[in-house]
Amino acid sequence: MNIYPPVEQRFSPFEFYSLMRKNNPIAFDEGNKQWGLYRYSDIEKILRDPIKFSSKFGPFQIPEEYQENLNRPSLLNSDPPYHRKLRSIVDTLFVPIEISKLEPRIKNIANTLIDNIIEKGNNNTMDLVTDFAYPLPATVIAELLGVPSEDHDTFRQWADDIVSLEITNESDIDSIRKADKTVVDMDVYFSKLIEKKKKIPTNDLISHIIRAQVDGHSLSEKEILSFCSLLLNAGHVTTVNLIGNLVFSLLENPQEFKRLQENQNSLIKPAIEETLRYRSPVQFLFRIANADVTLSGARIGDKVEQKIQKGQGITLFLGSANHDESVFTDPERFDITRKNLRHLGFGNGIHFCLGAPLARLEGQIALRVILERFENLQLNFDNSDRQNLYTKVSPLKSSFLLGLSHLPLFFKPKNR
Ligand code: HEM
Repeated sequence: MNIYPPVEQRFSPFEFYSLMRKNNPIAFDEGNKQWGLYRYSDIEKILRDPIKFSSKFGPFQIPEEYQENLNRPSLLNSDPPYHRKLRSIVDTLFVPIEISKLEPRIKNIANTLIDNIIEKGNNNTMDLVTDFAYPLPATVIAELLGVPSEDHDTFRQWADDIVSLEITNESDIDSIRKADKTVVDMDVYFSKLIEKKKKIPTNDLISHIIRAQVDGHSLSEKEILSFCSLLLNAGHVTTVNLIGNLVFSLLENPQEFKRLQENQNSLIKPAIEETLRYRSPVQFLFRIANADVTLSGARIGDKVEQKIQKGQGITLFLGSANHDESVFTDPERFDITRKNLRHLGFGNGIHFCLGAPLARLEGQIALRVILERFENLQLNFDNSDRQNLYTKVSPLKSSFLLGLSHLPLFFKPKNR
């Protein structure tokens, strides 16, 4: 059984998920000997149990020779107790109180990007992703890490090559080779930077990681490299899609957009959370069973029970959990005044997204600045046929991220 949504439904996998939740909530892919989980309660349970379910991804669809680079140990795919040691190096830097100090700088970057869009004019058209949603988080994470922002174009190429890594049933060797080469290129780039920062330490994230001590030891060169590329990538490829999905969802749902415009102070934060639920940028995560475990269907009256064997891989569809009708009322509706926002868009448990406070702040600032600077935002493509809207957009080429690679818009600048 194919546990992944068909490629052509990647921007709208929700009907597929709904059928899986109903008919095959714990599905087994015989070919790849891998499980797919779709219900909120099963997924939450696994995320909260790192002892029984490891984050060391293992082989999956990536051939052995590419495992060394594409599956190397990092914060993201390590287990306790090593995970705690790595996380303790950065944990305190990403708490909301620290992140809130970045607000003036993030606002400044966002406003400069909008100035450029208005100055360029382009007959009052823009590509929200290329002109705004991408460069905003990329500049922020580059500045935090202490990497030159003039290298942005290189980062974008790397990001594209990493996110288009095909790790589902459709895995294709070209995307794997490209991602593998990107890891090598990133290592060369960061090695030079680390060398420089070792000689002249600066007040940035890379220098902090170089200085960090775990059990009385500094991290090895390999560990530092892996940390740098994780933070650079995780720090922007996801937030780009949060901003793109947010603006698209608002334009697709004009009544919600109107409510937001009329109640900006109270609805900006909920609009971000609803986007994280409704169009979760990260659609799935991997785990491996550390022991034989029996999972039983979580819904009352269900008889679903499956035995997962030690060593088998499990794909946890966060995108499906976030549309689970047993947790969210009317889940297929984009509703920015929704009461229950317990989404799993940032994961759960010990690997809960380190950058969640930063991503939330970036999303809130992006939305506030867009509302302040533009009026009459509209999709710049034929969107008269609302039923088939998804056939007109440019979905991101990625198996695990849900987003748009371009979002053409009409805008009218507001008089300031
Ligand atoms: C909307 C934006 C974002 C989304 C949807 C997102 C999503 C996620 C998810 C689902 C996880 C859990 C992974 C797992 O359990 O295996 C995660 C972990 C992580 N995220 Fe994010 N993320 C976002 C933004 C960021 C940002 C801005 C950073 C920058 C620092 C970041 C850094 C990380 C790191 C380092 C981890 C690994 C944490 C650990 O394993 O302990 N993320 N993220």
